[in-house]
Amino acid sequence: MGDLAGKVALITGSGRGMGRAHALVMAGRGADIVIHDILKDEAAKTAEDVRALGRKVFVSNADVSDVAAMKETVAEAEAALGGIEILVNNAGITSERTGIEGVDEAFFQRMYDVHVKGTFFTTQAVVPGMKERGRGKIVNVSSMWASTGHPTGATYIAAKGAILGLTKAWALEFAPWKITVNAITPGGVITEMVMAKGGMDYVREASKKVPLGRYADIEEMAYTAAFLASPESDFITGQVIGPNGGQSIVGI
Ligand SMILES: NC(=O)c1ccc[n+]([C@@H]2O[C@H](COP(=O)([O-])OP(=O)(O)OC[C@H]3O[C@@H](n4cnc5c(N)ncnc54)[C@H](O)[C@@H]3O)[C@@H](O)[C@H]2O)c1
Repeated sequence: MGDLAGKVALITGSGRGMGRAHALVMAGRGADIVIHDILKDEAAKTAEDVRALGRKVFVSNADVSDVAAMKETVAEAEAALGGIEILVNNAGITSERTGIEGVDEAFFQRMYDVHVKGTFFTTQAVVPGMKERGRGKIVNVSSMWASTGHPTGATYIAAKGAILGLTKAWALEFAPWKITVNAITPGGVITEMVMAKGGMDYVREASKKVPLGRYADIEEMAYTAAFLASPESDFITGQVIGPNGGQSIVGI
């Protein structure tokens, strides 16, 4: 049994990609998992694999931007598995690949709904239980681009920047209840989201800008999240950690 034994973790967007890796690594360390993804088949597959590790699951296919549905997910999951002690706000959608002219109001709104509204209200649903228990671990998934910028993707970067703001504000707001709040700012990670952008050609080209010379595997993000969810990180809050192969080092 690992260092997350007996904990319940809600991981949004855990049907595939990094969210799936968070679920499997945390389950491997003893946590029961609330699997959440709008993609039903992918969520069911993660659930099957978590169960195979001997852990319990609760599955929700709610849209993360649907405030009422996420509140219901939290209530039902806690009735089934017990209080949620770990929340990973991971669900996300890809950036625009255009300049400012290519963004319409609906695209802008969706970007904020999924990343900012989703993170805000899922956390709002989970925090009362964490306060009651006097402990909790919240890991918000932002992006390296929130620190570095990028010539395309302004709405994505702004939404991911807002997630850094929430992280710092909540670290202060929730500290009296011993709830820690930290953010991960991944660099390039090989997932379906990245493959959809341009496949391995895109990854090979982009890897040239990474000092360690490659994109990350999903597990490398999951180990960071699992650390931030574990008692080993109890004195770390309001921090931003960037597993990015050195790509955000200034001056290289
Ligand atoms: N892949 C990268 O290089 C990279 C880099 C930096 C940050 N990120 C961020 O990491 C997180 C995970 O990304 P990924 O690369 O694993 O992407 P992914 O597309 O493989 O996984 C994202 C998951 O979120 C789910 N999701 C999206 N919108 C949802 C909604 N409205 N309701 C419920 N579920 C929803 C998707 O169905 C999917 O399973 C995202 O927040 C992304 O922005 C990714």
